[in-house]
Amino acid sequence: MSEMMRSRARRAHPFPLVAAATGGRPERRPVWFMRQAGRSLPEYRAIRADHGMLESCFDPELVCEITMQPVRRHDVDAAILFSDIVVPLKAAGIDLDIVAGTGPVIADPVRTAGDVANLPRLDDHSVGAIAHAIGLLLDELPDQTALIGFAGAPFTLASYLIEGGPSRHYERTKALMYGDPDTWHALMGRLADITITFLRVQLEAGVDAVQLFDSWAGMLSLADYQTFVAPHSARVFAEIADHDVPRIHFGVGTGELLGAMADAGADVIGVDWRVPLHEAVRRVGPGKAVQGNLDPTLLFAGPEVVEREVRRVVADGDRAVRAGATGHIMNLGHGVLPGTDPDVLTRAVELIHSL
Ligand code: CP3
Repeated sequence: MSEMMRSRARRAHPFPLVAAATGGRPERRPVWFMRQAGRSLPEYRAIRADHGMLESCFDPELVCEITMQPVRRHDVDAAILFSDIVVPLKAAGIDLDIVAGTGPVIADPVRTAGDVANLPRLDDHSVGAIAHAIGLLLDELPDQTALIGFAGAPFTLASYLIEGGPSRHYERTKALMYGDPDTWHALMGRLADITITFLRVQLEAGVDAVQLFDSWAGMLSLADYQTFVAPHSARVFAEIADHDVPRIHFGVGTGELLGAMADAGADVIGVDWRVPLHEAVRRVGPGKAVQGNLDPTLLFAGPEVVEREVRRVVADGDRAVRAGATGHIMNLGHGVLPGTDPDVLTRAVELIHSL
């Protein structure tokens, strides 16, 4: 089947996730989980025993298989492409690795105007394996299951490049931001270019929605977010707006930023567990959907607590819709933790679909 026919065949079915994101009436309440593909699943760990993380991210068959694993197991309404936010940086030629238990580690951190000028650019061909994987997935996914593509937002990518790896306080990132705003904006501009290219490749390959992960933006005040970050994230959303698919914007600890993140141009705002969904709608404003926001640590608290909290978040999602949200997509407030019992997720999906 040609690329065009395939996406048309898929779009003929209304995805519950897309309906909820765009003010339609989904056939069932859509649910998926950030980090659903990965270390909570024994079948994932079995594959990774023989394949490195980055090696897996650039192997279309492995990407397809790992992306499918949580769909088969949990009957979620969306697959999220198995990849990582540093994949486009690696593809562009930046020397980095993803270290188990640590996260991305950058060989030569970016800290000066010269470092920024020397950053490589991303061309479409170097992420061809990801486009290929998306093609395989569109053939394999059930008709009702949306495929979500994603990228890291410029700020979260910048924090890894500047710190050289994960950080607690982001002191070097903030030092560059406050101390040398010209270099900061030049870096953010280059990272926005990479993010736009990576998202456009995924959109052209046929993903049904995209999520921009600005996971660590919650480290910033609203004023600093608006000055140093929002213009670059807004450019990312603007430059993919010609594709008619829902755009989701997510970060952790972003209660103070929800309005500004909505203004950046997303259709759906991801909310962590700190802010109730109906309150998030007040901050976001009407006309957008909300996604979230079960605390991922609750999944360790036993079946009664999980059931009670799932019911509470579902009711809160309904309240968010009454308060002006165009829909609610059920999710966690951040990613599935590695030690999570996958059966707890499967049962949560069953319950959500039954309510
Ligand atoms: O299921 C999915 O959500 C798709 C896969 C996915 C991964 N990374 C795979 C992965 C997604 C969406 C990401 C995004 C990502 N990567 C983010 C944004 C989401 C978030 O959690 O806020 C961030 C900040 C990263 C950077 C990163 N990569 C971190 C912090 C880590 C974890 C470090 C660790 O090992 O605890 C990674 C590694 C990573 N990315 C793993 C997976 C499955 C674990 C690597 C492994 O299996 O060895």
